[in-house]
Amino acid sequence: MDWMSNNDVTINKLVFTKFLTKDAIQARVEELAKELKNKYENHNPIFVILLNGAFVFASDLLRQFDESAETLFLKVSSYHDLESTGNVTFDKNFLSPLSGRSVILIEDIIDTGNTMVALLKELKTIGVKEVALCTLLLKPNKLKHNFEVQHVGFSIADEFVVGYGLDYNEQGRNLRDIYQLKSQ
Ligand code: IMP
Ligand code: MG
Repeated sequence: MDWMSNNDVTINKLVFTKFLTKDAIQARVEELAKELKNKYENHNPIFVILLNGAFVFASDLLRQFDESAETLFLKVSSYHDLESTGNVTFDKNFLSPLSGRSVILIEDIIDTGNTMVALLKELKTIGVKEVALCTLLLKPNKLKHNFEVQHVGFSIADEFVVGYGLDYNEQGRNLRDIYQLKSQ
């Protein structure tokens, strides 16, 4: 595998270095699952898994939530290359089953917060019973909006990251660890 050496991985000529190991991620995911279990057992929540990035995180997290629950997958896009475009798109029609329900949004990373704010606005219109956000990663210094994130795996610096579901132009989602862009 020539794209990977020691602790580095190269994607489209950019070098990323190992940042969160798979063991550290698994340990934190276990804790998050416990938090969610304590809060949502007997609520039969709907987990809304935001695609594409959250698919790996969600599959580990939800298999540890051994209580009744439903899942819904929602394709959301806003990012292009290394930057958020601010233009969030998703199909509102997919959200109608959420009316009156306890909803937990599962996200890979919250950056500007544009995606979450757009979704929260739509959920308010639909009339959900309650909504909580659960994100593996949060970049607090890049947030442009004020909203509560109830469950956060790791708060990280502003650098771009890949792996464990997160991509750089669709590459790197299959990495087991999370890698951070090396300063040039
Ligand atoms: P936001 O709307 O700016 O909060 O961006 C959220 C979305 O941008 C996430 O769901 C990711 O898909 C993507 N994103 C933000 N930061 C990164 C990153 O460092 N690596 C990969 N994707 C990212
Ligand atoms: Mg995403």
